[in-house]
Amino acid sequence: MSDVAARIEMGLATVRHRPMAEWPQTTFDELGMMNPFTTGNLKQWRKAIAATRHLRGAIVECGTYRGESLGPLGWLLREEGDPRHLIGFDSFQGFPSIADEDRAEGTYLGRPDYFTRTSQADVQAFVDALGLQDRVTLVGGFFEDTLPRTAVGPVSVLILDCDLYESYRTCLRELYALVEPGGWILFDEYFNKKYPGARKAVDEFFADKPEKPSRDEELFLTDFFERWYVVKQ
Ligand SMILES: C[S@@+](CC[C@H](N)C(=O)[O-])C[C@H]1O[C@@H](n2cnc3c(N)ncnc32)[C@H](O)[C@@H]1O
Repeated sequence: MSDVAARIEMGLATVRHRPMAEWPQTTFDELGMMNPFTTGNLKQWRKAIAATRHLRGAIVECGTYRGESLGPLGWLLREEGDPRHLIGFDSFQGFPSIADEDRAEGTYLGRPDYFTRTSQADVQAFVDALGLQDRVTLVGGFFEDTLPRTAVGPVSVLILDCDLYESYRTCLRELYALVEPGGWILFDEYFNKKYPGARKAVDEFFADKPEKPSRDEELFLTDFFERWYVVKQ
């Protein structure tokens, strides 16, 4: 058994047959997962998934890193009997080059090792150990290369968690048309001073679209943090 499989096996030992909502925080920590019931952005992603259950398109996450959000989302989809497929796009080797639009005081962008502590093989082993291999697909490589040559099909929820100006631009250019009417597009870094390029790319893209980014007022009130999204018309 691989190290990843052994770690997941141990973490799941006492909770495997309990609803995820009842898992203690220590289990999420052991499994290397974010807690989707307490983490602000995942609360919004759950809300988007619930609001789009009538749609058939895939749930697409652009920016998967180590699978810390993709893992719990896949587990919840299965637990809720939601048949939608989850697709995770990432280089699995960190950022591509950084545009001028991304530079701001206090960002992590100067660190060459940021988001490099991962690999597609490790994340695939994590997905396999959770038993999610049939409902999760990982696509490794830079979005600029992978998105144009991947048959994504219809999308019901598009999660953009990829930080950078050019990355947001590429994902919106390649995937917006695939989002079904009523589908949600979530912008993880729209309100994030570390990543000013994300908001700029979103605002530029939607300038000539019927939808305009909105703040989730409900989560803003509960979390005191801003979550932004659009619902496709
Ligand atoms: C904030 S992390 C994702 C975190 C993950 N969703 C989670 O919650 O654990 C951002 C990821 O976007 C990826 N990324 C950013 N721009 C990319 C690009 N152009 N192509 C591929 N991956 C990219 C980075 O490699 C990094 O892993």
